[in-house]
Amino acid sequence: MAMTATDFDFLRTVVSRNSGNQIDPSRDYLFESRLGGLLRAQGLTALDQLVAALKLEPDARLQRSVAEAMTINETSFFRDNSPFELLRTALLPALIERRRHIRSLRFWSAASSTGQEAWSLAMLLREHFPDLASWRIEILGTDLSAEMVERARAARYQRLEVNRGLPARFLLKYMVRIDDEWEVAPALRPLCRFEQRNLCRLPVLLDTFDGIFLRNVMLYFSAETRRHVLLEMHRALSPDGFLVLGSSEQPGMPQHWLPVLTEKTCYYRPLPAAG
Ligand SMILES: C[S@@+](CC[C@H](N)C(=O)[O-])C[C@H]1O[C@@H](n2cnc3c(N)ncnc32)[C@H](O)[C@@H]1O
Repeated sequence: MAMTATDFDFLRTVVSRNSGNQIDPSRDYLFESRLGGLLRAQGLTALDQLVAALKLEPDARLQRSVAEAMTINETSFFRDNSPFELLRTALLPALIERRRHIRSLRFWSAASSTGQEAWSLAMLLREHFPDLASWRIEILGTDLSAEMVERARAARYQRLEVNRGLPARFLLKYMVRIDDEWEVAPALRPLCRFEQRNLCRLPVLLDTFDGIFLRNVMLYFSAETRRHVLLEMHRALSPDGFLVLGSSEQPGMPQHWLPVLTEKTCYYRPLPAAG
């Protein structure tokens, strides 16, 4: 049987409930292309069979798998570059001065996909701030998708992936070539760890961070989900910490976030009054 409009509605609701991601009906075709692997793994041959299975027995794990398979995982090393330049030239030097007494820094790459954002930060820290070698540095990457978290942990990238954004100098210094692929070098590994977390299930984490990267994920959320996630980021950020969003994203919420405009980019400070 062919998929009906009601079937697609149902799948969109499953995705929204389990990941907060809103899929526009004009993109329903994505269900066919992205759920093929899941269908095969379930021994099914068509999408309407999956819908029937989900309706017959509301299997929470299968619902989550549908939501995970529908995520867009586009990322790259040093994506958009200017936030990393800002980190190198202004945000990190100031933060390091303020943390000199405790010699500890914690960062969160929320929605880390295959890990390039977290590993880029690790490279930046090692390359430009050698004094931090004796500090406690933690970069936590989290993502909804178990498969993306596995890939981020494995830290192994194809030639095409390292060619996108990773300077040749960094490739040779911080990656090890294995056959046709590249793996993050052992010396960098202790800086990053990755966990599966859903930004829509609160609290996402109970820790506090000095810097949070929440880039290119809020565009998939409804306004209400965005607000909840941003409140969670506000709670998780130290009072003098910073939030970096994607180049086309803004938090709004002027009582909670102070935008700081720089020459090429923008970042956000948490406002105390809202706490
Ligand atoms: C387009 S990628 C962005 C990756 C990276 N932050 C960047 O800017 O390059 C979006 C990521 O958000 C993740 N994601 C989507 N919904 C999520 C949710 N509710 N909780 C956690 N991660 C989610 C997806 O799995 C995907 O890997």
